[in-house]
This record gives sequence, structure tokens and C-alpha cells, in this order.
Amino acid sequence: MNETSEYYRDQVAVVTGGASGIGLALAETMLAYGAAKVVLADFNDENLRRETARLNAAYPERVVGLHCDVTQEEDVKRMIRRAAECGGGRVDLLFNNAGAGLGGAFDAQTNEDWEKAFALNFYGALYGIRAVLPIMRAQGGGHIVDIISGIAFFPMAYQTMYSATKAALNGLTLALRYELWDENIRVTSATPGTTATAIWKAGGNEPPPGAQTPEQSARTVLAGVARNERLVLGDEGDLSGAKHCFHPEAATGNDEYLLNVARKRRSGEWVV
Ligand SMILES: NC(=O)c1ccc[n+]([C@@H]2O[C@H](COP(=O)([O-])OP(=O)(O)OC[C@H]3O[C@@H](n4cnc5c(N)ncnc54)[C@H](O)[C@@H]3O)[C@@H](O)[C@H]2O)c1
Repeated sequence: MNETSEYYRDQVAVVTGGASGIGLALAETMLAYGAAKVVLADFNDENLRRETARLNAAYPERVVGLHCDVTQEEDVKRMIRRAAECGGGRVDLLFNNAGAGLGGAFDAQTNEDWEKAFALNFYGALYGIRAVLPIMRAQGGGHIVDIISGIAFFPMAYQTMYSATKAALNGLTLALRYELWDENIRVTSATPGTTATAIWKAGGNEPPPGAQTPEQSARTVLAGVARNERLVLGDEGDLSGAKHCFHPEAATGNDEYLLNVARKRRSGEWVV
């Protein structure tokens, strides 16, 4: 036991997008840390069934899989209600982790594409927060963690939807942190760092060399959350991006770097 694992011991946690990648690793690591109950909420039923069964075999009766499409507010409300029932009335931690990479040229994207992007990467988390707040207030506290991305601090060409949705989620998260602070409800924004998960394949790419494992990301995020950090940064790249992106003295270097990314992506030399 250490300071991090203590934070999760006997807790009830919900992880959206919990049937794959970083969400699954967050769930599994919290179980290893002694969480009482972990709810995986996902809309991929096949992965959900398989991973719930696998984790329940290792941690009997401590894992629940609930179908939930986070873009549907009623679904999210129902899922949180069920999660609380399974958790003996409690939800101590909510990880709003479900999300997608959403690359592509701005010119090719319609309003419908943008609405879908915000529905998943922004409103999905907002619905989760709304649904869990009454439970956290009734139990006297809790911790909400929104999984953003380093792109919130380093917006890149051909990733306008990803940049905008994750920056918006970060704004919501950090503002809300102080609105809820005095109610003993903690709110944290976390980037997982570049991580080898299915999200890269979904965009037609391989994870970049040097990408960390989901388990590494989960451990970093969980340690920062346990320290109640405002913003957890999942790797060195995200730390550097967060430090320099809006720093006036770094503006010229940022222009050069980001323009180079845009041109390489446009020429097809780099895939998004
Ligand atoms: N992998 C990375 O390098 C990286 C970097 C920065 C941020 N992130 C963020 O981490 C989070 C997790 O991504 P990942 O890399 O583990 O990807 P992943 O594709 O492995 O996992 C995403 C999960 O979300 C689920 N999901 C998608 N849409 C959903 C919906 N509408 N309702 C419910 N569940 C839904 C998927 O079924 C999947 O299980 C995302 O928010 C992503 O933006 C990832």
C-alpha cells in the first residue's frame, strides 16, 4: 500500500469508455489498488462483456459492466443510477474517459460531424458530471476526472475537432473545480500522454514509437488524481506542450513546428 493505492481502496468508481485502452487500464489498476467496485461503462458490448468477465475472474464481484452510450443523456443518467445501486448508494470516483481522435480536414467536415464530435468528447462528460453530482453531494464528496488530451495545449492542423472538443472539456473541468471545491467534490483534468491503444487504429494509424502502455498512463493519471492535482499531465510531451503552447516567448517556435506538422500532413508524408 502507498499513498496512491490508499486513495482508491474501498472506493466505488465508474469509468466511461472502460472496455478498452486507457479506461480499461484505469479500471484494472484501481482494482489492484483495492477499489471496492469498479463499473465499466461502454457502448461496445462485445468488449464490455469480455473485459467484465476477465476482471471479475480476477476480482470476484467487484466489477460491473454497464452498456452506456455517453452521447445519450438518458443513457448516462441510467448508467450512473445503476452504478450507484451496485456501489451500495455510492459513486466516489467518476472518470469521464470515453472519447475518440476525430482527425481529418476541416473542409471535409460538416456541422453534423462537429455535433457528433462535441456529443462524444464534450457532452458525454458533461452528462456524466450532471448525473453524478447529486450522488456525490448526498455522500458528502467525490472526485470527477475528465480525460482530455495534450492536444488541448497544442492544437494541431487536421485535428480541429479533437483540439476544440478537448480544449472545451478542459475549460469546463478547470472552471468547475473551483465551483465544487467547497462541497468537497474534487475535479481534475488529465491527459494520459501518448498511449498505444485502439484509438490510433481507429484513425488508420499505428501508435507512434515511444507510446506508453495504457497501464503506464493509468498509473500516472491515478497518482496525480490521488494528489488532487488540478491538471495531470501524462507524459513529458504533454508537460512541454502545456508549459509552452501559450507562452508568448515560445510563439515563433510553435508556429514553425505546427506549420511543419500541417504541411507534412497535407502532403500525406505524415498521416493524422
Ligand atoms: N491513446 C492516446 O494516445 C490518447 C492521448 C490523449 C488522450 N486520449 C484520450 O483517452 C481516452 C481513452 O482513449 P483510448 O486511447 O483508451 O481509446 P480506445 O479507443 O482504446 O478507448 C475508447 C473507449 O471509449 C468507448 N466509447 C467510444 N464512444 C463511446 C460512446 N459514445 N459511449 C460509450 N463509450 C464509448 C470505446 O468503445 C472504447 O472502449 C479518450 O478520451 C482519448 O481522447 C488518448
